[in-house]
Amino acid sequence: MDKSAGDTNGPEPTAPGAPRIAALRPEFIWGAATSSFQIEGATRVDGRGPSVWDTDGRRGVIPGKDTGDVACDHYHRYPEDIALMQKLGVQAYRFSVAWPRVLPQGRGQANEPGLAFYDRLIDGLLAAGIEPWLCLYHWDLPQALDDLGGWTNRDSVGWFSDYAALVADRYGDRVKRFATFNEPAIFTLFGYGFGRGNRDETPIEELHHAIHHVNLSHGAAVDVLRARVGGCSLGSIHNVQPCRPSSPADADGARWADTYWNRAYPDPQFLGRYPELLGPAMEAIMRPGDLERIHRPVDWFGLNHYSPIYVRTDNAARFRFGFGDRPPGIPVTPMDWPIEPDGFRDSLLRVTKDYGLPVYVTENGFGGHDKPDITGAVIDNDRIAFLKGYINAMNDAAAEGADIRGYFVWSLLDNFEWDSGYAARFGLVYIDYPTQKRTPKASFDWYKGLIKVARAQA
Ligand code: NOJ
Repeated sequence: MDKSAGDTNGPEPTAPGAPRIAALRPEFIWGAATSSFQIEGATRVDGRGPSVWDTDGRRGVIPGKDTGDVACDHYHRYPEDIALMQKLGVQAYRFSVAWPRVLPQGRGQANEPGLAFYDRLIDGLLAAGIEPWLCLYHWDLPQALDDLGGWTNRDSVGWFSDYAALVADRYGDRVKRFATFNEPAIFTLFGYGFGRGNRDETPIEELHHAIHHVNLSHGAAVDVLRARVGGCSLGSIHNVQPCRPSSPADADGARWADTYWNRAYPDPQFLGRYPELLGPAMEAIMRPGDLERIHRPVDWFGLNHYSPIYVRTDNAARFRFGFGDRPPGIPVTPMDWPIEPDGFRDSLLRVTKDYGLPVYVTENGFGGHDKPDITGAVIDNDRIAFLKGYINAMNDAAAEGADIRGYFVWSLLDNFEWDSGYAARFGLVYIDYPTQKRTPKASFDWYKGLIKVARAQA
């Protein structure tokens, strides 16, 4: 039965505080997401090579001088984490493979102990009845490849497709859901564009090269996976954030922001063309046949969403936009991210209209500064309220025709939040980093209840 449209007035789930889910499909998948660098730790263990994020951590540039060296020690504690997932009741778990763990130099000799870790993880998930969703790239580029220019080097396409082949051949008997890249706009804009991450400010042409090579790498990996993994289901994951002009004078800036933020990857990957504003820059880089190499058939669009962004026009800026003020009175998370569920609904509808693919929400969540109370409990009602509002908005989008097939909460565990280090917590499970004790938060029980109700109704 397809309940994807016109069903918002259906019966409400009975669990207290539950969101509206009546417009979601019966076979809807409820999951949780993490990524390798953010949770694994064990960065110097079993032959893993360094990634660009190890380099940043070792340079001490992350607040608190945080590093990924221990993180959630998931590399050693994954059985406990799988048990938590089982308790939560998720049907699927989205994780990423650390490229430098399986190919310490990024290419060449594979690292058997690193490969064996993901065998254990995947086997454990399957034994627990949880479907593994494997993302090839969640930002931990092997340092050895960065030393060769990273994504600005067109050779990256070959490096990435060889890595994809290794992963496909090793795990393709057990894993069928693959994503190529997680949020390419973010890691290229912040890595090459704004001059953050482990780079000094670089010329904008380098960003354009990186965009094109990541797009080509996506297309190459889709071909590799399709050829090597029978019955696979492939997608790529994009953060989609409405770019709202701070004032009517900022409409041009909002168009530029939308181009770099929301369209530089999905448009060529799913429509076979670069967005208009990027056209001239990309024409200068492209070789004949490149758009066909990028525009390969995929099965779904992975959408990550947290908030809209407010933008102003800045013709002097390299991107022609800057970050602008938001209207007063909009509630924000402790990370100062606007809480506007209508932006989520709009993004789901926009993606459906423009790309026509089934959508999985591959991330959505709330970053806070959670602390246990004196009883040791972590009562994160702000996160529950956020999730409820956003899931309601997802239901509204489904009722208006968006073909949404699943939702992965970010994140299962508190973890290493990139430039915020460990200060921001997104987990349904609290991590006490000194002891590595895991404490499910109130939101864990809430999400568990939601999944139970949703599955009972399916
Ligand atoms: C998107 C990224 O994919 C993930 O790594 C990050 O932790 C969350 N957003 C929250 O910022």
